[in-house]
Amino acid sequence: MASDDAGAEEEGERLLDGLRVDEARPERPVLLDEQGEPLRTWQENYPYREKMRRKTYERRKRFLQIELLKLQKTVREQGQRIVVVCEGRDAAGKGGTIKRFTERLNPRGARVVALDKPTEREAGQWYFQRYVAQLPSAGEIVFFDRSWYNRAGVEPVMGFCTPQEHRQFLQQAPLFEKMLTDDGIVLIKFWLSVSQAEQRTRFAIRQVDPVRQWKLSPTDLASLDLWDAYTKAKVEMFRATDTVHAPWSVIKFNDKRRGRLEAIRHLLLRMDYEAKDKDAVGEADPLIIGPADTLLE
Ligand code: ADP
Ligand code: AMP
Ligand code: MLT
Repeated sequence: MASDDAGAEEEGERLLDGLRVDEARPERPVLLDEQGEPLRTWQENYPYREKMRRKTYERRKRFLQIELLKLQKTVREQGQRIVVVCEGRDAAGKGGTIKRFTERLNPRGARVVALDKPTEREAGQWYFQRYVAQLPSAGEIVFFDRSWYNRAGVEPVMGFCTPQEHRQFLQQAPLFEKMLTDDGIVLIKFWLSVSQAEQRTRFAIRQVDPVRQWKLSPTDLASLDLWDAYTKAKVEMFRATDTVHAPWSVIKFNDKRRGRLEAIRHLLLRMDYEAKDKDAVGEADPLIIGPADTLLE
């Protein structure tokens, strides 16, 4: 698949057709359409007309992060183990969400796992092996930025695994996860959902923003033309792996701020911990977060 550099560059340029950067906001690139209006692709299939304001977001995030610290204290004292899996299409917001989870946590006891593509050695091992090596010990919360679910998405879609390996994965993932949860690990699985036009906008911003350019990978560019293939893979994945012991939570992520708060809140609602402040945690917004079968057609 790896397109050569020239090809990738052309694909990248294509993202910007008809768009230009708002020169008035050099601190954070915003794209304007041919009429000079900011892109509003985030409104596609989105239940709110306005994005959450920064001030509101910062205030709520702070209260939730205080609760996360209490949770972490209890987890460490009681030797609990938590796994948070963040999945979603390219540019859905996985990395940024994990960053907000961990922002205030004690790094001793909170770990982020973002594995690269398998090395030759890893490719010769049991598929789950390199993920097993990263599971939490007592007192740890581990965040997976992508996970074993690569074999339900990017791998079959891009041809990095065989159809047989894909099928086998879909059979085995629930069994694998049952072993984890039976052993007492708390397993939370998030699917960050982004609409097609918004994904494209985010790629275009990656193209023009020097601090984001590293995120724009050949896989991202390829995924522009693979939207439907990814959708099909996702539906099969939910069908096979949305289980009672390890259900998916789908979060609408066209507004990243709302999405991140819902993700943090979901973990807090799920857990009991000392000095929990229920008002600070609040309630889930059913327009934004829900089980796999309600938020997805
Ligand atoms: P990300 O979106 O996580 O920043 P990419 O879009 O570059 O990264 O890649 C998506 C995922 O596909 C990553 O988890 C990466 O490790 C995986 N991947 C890329 N190439 C291969 C490959 N040849 N075999 C298996 N997995 C791969
Ligand atoms: P994801 O959950 O990341 O796959 O994103 C799915 C996005 O595409 C959501 O915004 C959905 O509402 C939207 N979507 C999915 N299927 C359709 C469809 N058949 N028609 C229109 N929008 C769709
Ligand atoms: C995302 O979903 O946006 C990614 O995890 C973030 C990234 O690619 O850096």
